[in-house]
Amino acid sequence: MTTICLLGLGYIGLPTGSMFALAGKDVIGVDPSPRVQTQLSSGLASIDEPELQTLVTAAINSGRLRVQTRPEPADAFIIAVPTPLDPTTNKADLSFVEQAARDILPLLRRGNLVVLESTVPPGTTRDVLAPILAESGLQPGIDICVAHCPERVLPGRILVELEQNDRLAGGLTPACADRAAELYTAFVKGTIMRTDATTAEMVKVMENTFRDVNVALANEFALIAERIGVDVWEAIRLANHHPRVNVLRPGPGVGGHCIAVDPWFLVDAAPHQARLIRTSREVNDSMPEHVVSRLAELVSPPAPVALLGVTYKAEVDDIRESPALRVAELAVERGYAVRLCDPHVKPDVRGLPAPLLPLEQALRDAEAVVLLVDHRDFQSLDLDLVSVLVGSKRVLDSHNSLDRAEWQKRVFDVSRLGAGMSSGVSRVNA
Ligand SMILES: NC(=O)c1ccc[n+]([C@@H]2O[C@H](COP(=O)([O-])OP(=O)(O)OC[C@H]3O[C@@H](n4cnc5c(N)ncnc54)[C@H](O)[C@@H]3O)[C@@H](O)[C@H]2O)c1
Repeated sequence: MTTICLLGLGYIGLPTGSMFALAGKDVIGVDPSPRVQTQLSSGLASIDEPELQTLVTAAINSGRLRVQTRPEPADAFIIAVPTPLDPTTNKADLSFVEQAARDILPLLRRGNLVVLESTVPPGTTRDVLAPILAESGLQPGIDICVAHCPERVLPGRILVELEQNDRLAGGLTPACADRAAELYTAFVKGTIMRTDATTAEMVKVMENTFRDVNVALANEFALIAERIGVDVWEAIRLANHHPRVNVLRPGPGVGGHCIAVDPWFLVDAAPHQARLIRTSREVNDSMPEHVVSRLAELVSPPAPVALLGVTYKAEVDDIRESPALRVAELAVERGYAVRLCDPHVKPDVRGLPAPLLPLEQALRDAEAVVLLVDHRDFQSLDLDLVSVLVGSKRVLDSHNSLDRAEWQKRVFDVSRLGAGMSSGVSRVNA
């Protein structure tokens, strides 16, 4: 039986380790985080993801997923640790990858496979990971196989996509790609495409950059539409009738651990060439500020405002790089009395700029309500109750996902991102 030592039991590592365990592999799951240890030692999945609890319980009960704080010798090592952005330089912080590589260094044996799953700048497997592994005295690509197998899953659908998506096995050598591809056939039903490690790294960041640039275009359309007095939602709906056009939805920005981060890896790799990519990042990063300026058209500080949603997108509990969180921070800075509400976020979550309140408390006497995340819960609010609770009937919908007619029926003044006048502009060409 293959033994896998998997470093990093987060959004990617925990589902992946559980899948391998249920596919019959012996998995040693490693994570130094006391929070992860505490939760997993009581059998609880440390992240909120549909069906994950059932999978983790089955994997632990099968005896094939063991959780510990330090790695052990294994046939294959998988590294799924964070690769955040250094906020001061906008460069990838590879310290977690480097540390994980050093952690397994003394355990490496001839014939081992080391897979880097973390998303990294192109060249990292070859130029950062392999040289560290070579300190073991074993030569990467000859004595040990080294590969990059990036993850393409969508939070909220991780388990389905882990199994069904096509994925990449990018080897330091073709033989390394084969070894990695063979490992993942244990549970992957999609096609496993073999390539070299640097191409695999480039492909992964290109995919997320493609999304970011297209969202930036939609956001820019929204800003232009506001400026010239067009309803961008109607314009996009009509444009998308063109057989080769598919404009995405504008919103309060782009967040999460991937799409808001990975494009910077390309900007860093080729700053003079990555002009569109850099500008797209800047457009998306400017959206929270824009939402706050739209809020200022409705009410002035220190008015109490209810901000609905904190996560970076709907139906997840993840607040990393969340544009909604950024809106909240800016609103607090401007002096609003901010009340946050998000049914997906655990009450003990750290780093929020204002109290996280139950819906009724957040809404009570609020002078404006701002929809920042289009969670289903917010689309099915009891509007009669909302009407009674709020202090003033002003709503700003940054996703165009509220049922406007229903809100207007209760005499709410509904503003939407991408529609309506902004900054005092009163007509086209003003
Ligand atoms: N979350 C996603 O949807 C997603 C999708 C595709 C790719 N990725 C990439 O996968 C990687 C992991 O992302 P994530 O969302 O799972 O991160 P995460 O923060 O949820 O989990 C990473 C875990 O690694 C642990 N860790 C840190 N250093 C370690 C070490 N030396 N040994 C063992 N564990 C260690 C941390 O304690 C943490 O629990 C990142 O590079 C990310 O860009 C994430």
